[in-house]
Amino acid sequence: MAPSDRPHRSGGAEPETTPGPPASGAVSDRAADLVAALAGLKAEAEQQIRSAADGDALQRLKTDYLGRKAGRVSAILKALPSLEAEARRTVGQAANDAKAAIEQLLASAEAEHAARAAPPAGDLTMPARPAWRGALHPVTLVATEICEIFHELGFTRAVGPEAETERNNFTALNFPPGHPALDMQPTFYLGTGALLRSHTSPVQIRVMEAYRPPIRVTIPGRCYRRDPFDASHAPVFTQVEGLCVDEGISFVDLKAAITFFARRFFAAGVNVRFRPSFFPFTEPSAEVDVECQLCHGSGCPACKGTGWMEILGCGMVDPAVFENVGVDPERYTGWAFGMGLDRAAMVRYGIPDIRLLFEADMRFHRQFVGSV
Ligand code: PHE
Repeated sequence: MAPSDRPHRSGGAEPETTPGPPASGAVSDRAADLVAALAGLKAEAEQQIRSAADGDALQRLKTDYLGRKAGRVSAILKALPSLEAEARRTVGQAANDAKAAIEQLLASAEAEHAARAAPPAGDLTMPARPAWRGALHPVTLVATEICEIFHELGFTRAVGPEAETERNNFTALNFPPGHPALDMQPTFYLGTGALLRSHTSPVQIRVMEAYRPPIRVTIPGRCYRRDPFDASHAPVFTQVEGLCVDEGISFVDLKAAITFFARRFFAAGVNVRFRPSFFPFTEPSAEVDVECQLCHGSGCPACKGTGWMEILGCGMVDPAVFENVGVDPERYTGWAFGMGLDRAAMVRYGIPDIRLLFEADMRFHRQFVGSV
């Protein structure tokens, strides 16, 4: 409607608006102002709550906004009685909403502050547990030491599997089927043609089938036999094998290498003796003893009064073994030895009972911390 078309209530001299009873429009404006104020309050509260430094600051904001007497929301509510019923409902509703929203903001901010301020779980005054230092097993220690001594003579390390074929463990090593020598090494059979190796000698077969001479290897590893488990026997034990194959190798080389080793491992100048023995895979064969390290040869319970301790079996590689692995026995000769490491560790560290090597007794194992 264009202003000029506006109808006049009376004559043209009358003012356009006349004072009168409060119009409902004025009341609505007031209600709208209050609702807007509440919205502003809520926005302001939100900002302050978000930047509150700690729980105390939040507590102050709570009183400031929601306090029943002097709170800012309450201050706005004071105007309610002067409003008309409908406006009162609108403003009341908006006030409740604002209150609920501010309470909610306060609650989640309080939870956040509480989580941040919570002390870490556990007793901070408790003394720290010292870090546990690991140790190498005494058998691992002697295995490493022995391999290192032979390393000086040009030997490298080789390993093989603990589950072996009957052929590698016995047949190829010249044990004839049914031969009494098999009784020296009763082991655990896994099924047709498979067993837990009774010595590390099958790795001689594996090495000679994989590499041509010259060969110089030490072979540490675990072996199995159906032996009792007592102070000096265990059905699981560790050996180290030695194998040297080349042109012109003789028994003199074997004696020299073993004596060199014994004097490095046990004691400088220790007496070593070679006794004739038998193994199907060496010919001739020998058993090697060193002077007892406890009584130095005079005889004691540890050496059963003999003054000697048996440390290994050895011999010159039997030509039949060379033939089984395709090495020419006319051209090559060699020697081999096999040594029990559990016994060596017991002698080296004065361990009285082999079972200590298998038990997880920390009082025992802790003694080897730092021995590398
Ligand atoms: N393998 C033999 C044993 O365990 C030891 C040995 C190895 C003997 C090499 C001679 C040569 O009894």
